[in-house]
Amino acid sequence: MRVVYMLDPVDRLILDESPEPTGRVLVIDAPGLAGEVGARGWDAVAYCDSLLDERLLTVPVVEELTVGSLAGVDLVLLRLPKSVAALEEYAQRLALVPGVRVVAGGRVKHMTRGMNEALATRFAEVSASLGRQKSRVLHASGPRPGGIDFPRTARDADLDLPLAAHGGTFAGTRVDPGTRLLVSVLDRVPSATVVEERGTSVSKPSNFTCIDLGSGNGTLSALLARAGHRVLALDESRAACLATAVTAAANGVSVEVRRADALEGVAPGSVPLIVCNPPFHVGTAKDSAPGLAMIDDAARALAPRGELWLVFNAHLPYLPRLRRIGRTEIVARNPKFIVTRSVRGS
Ligand SMILES: C[S@@+](CC[C@H](N)C(=O)[O-])C[C@H]1O[C@@H](n2cnc3c(N)ncnc32)[C@H](O)[C@@H]1O
Repeated sequence: MRVVYMLDPVDRLILDESPEPTGRVLVIDAPGLAGEVGARGWDAVAYCDSLLDERLLTVPVVEELTVGSLAGVDLVLLRLPKSVAALEEYAQRLALVPGVRVVAGGRVKHMTRGMNEALATRFAEVSASLGRQKSRVLHASGPRPGGIDFPRTARDADLDLPLAAHGGTFAGTRVDPGTRLLVSVLDRVPSATVVEERGTSVSKPSNFTCIDLGSGNGTLSALLARAGHRVLALDESRAACLATAVTAAANGVSVEVRRADALEGVAPGSVPLIVCNPPFHVGTAKDSAPGLAMIDDAARALAPRGELWLVFNAHLPYLPRLRRIGRTEIVARNPKFIVTRSVRGS
């Protein structure tokens, strides 16, 4: 029996605007669309930045967008990413595939001229479809291969901190303003020595003293590693994991990076210290659910007397949930953000 995939208007428009493939089809960041394309009998592979999306895939996964892994691809169906930089990186990588055509769709309200321009940096012809159901696609063809300038790097002068970012990495090569508030009190976070004296370091043999949950460009990981912590960085985004690793290397520190959904794989009651600037979006929509889920997962993973240091937008309803972990205090605040410290009861 043929599985029917739930396609939203963007997916349907991409499919309807798609030319008949003559080779392999690559679907990017669109698990439902990938399933539908596979069910049509097209030779399909898929790439997802998000691990959560990747787990929905029913066609073979491509781990990276390189000439080798994209051999035979002639058509790319793509959900436009949130950031123009992410699209720019996709354009740079896809343009290395000879003769490839791209059909990239999104909601009209999230599309900008910058997206056409990003595609036009590497494709000779870029045109927009007529809109339908508040959605639109961009067609790109005539790839013009060139160099890839990702990950990009920049130095934060205040923190004397080199930062790396892929196109889809949260905050790019900048320090996020919320993260900067957390950084301003990072000297009050228990040191690696204190964590060790408490006798609560994450599972041997790696023996981490701290987890950076949702590590993004690796700002917090690098600073904590510079301060002597043995850091495990977790993020579900490929663009984040790769960036965190490059940031750590640029700072001359060692950070273990894993692509994971929140704290999966981390034993309950095992973590002495978690720092986190949780996500507040799902795709392009503001949503507090992922942040609440991270708080709950931190509550599960923290060791007795273990600490969660969280920064979040001041309007978000996180305080009651944090108090379920244990004693919670506000360590810093400004008009936009709050930094809290929650200590798990013993
Ligand atoms: C607000 S950003 C913070 C990034 C970085 N720590 C910083 O301070 O700039 C949240 C990060 O959480 C990641 N994230 C979102 N959902 C996640 C999940 N379920 N598991 C792990 N990471 C997740 C995002 O990819 C993003 O990098």
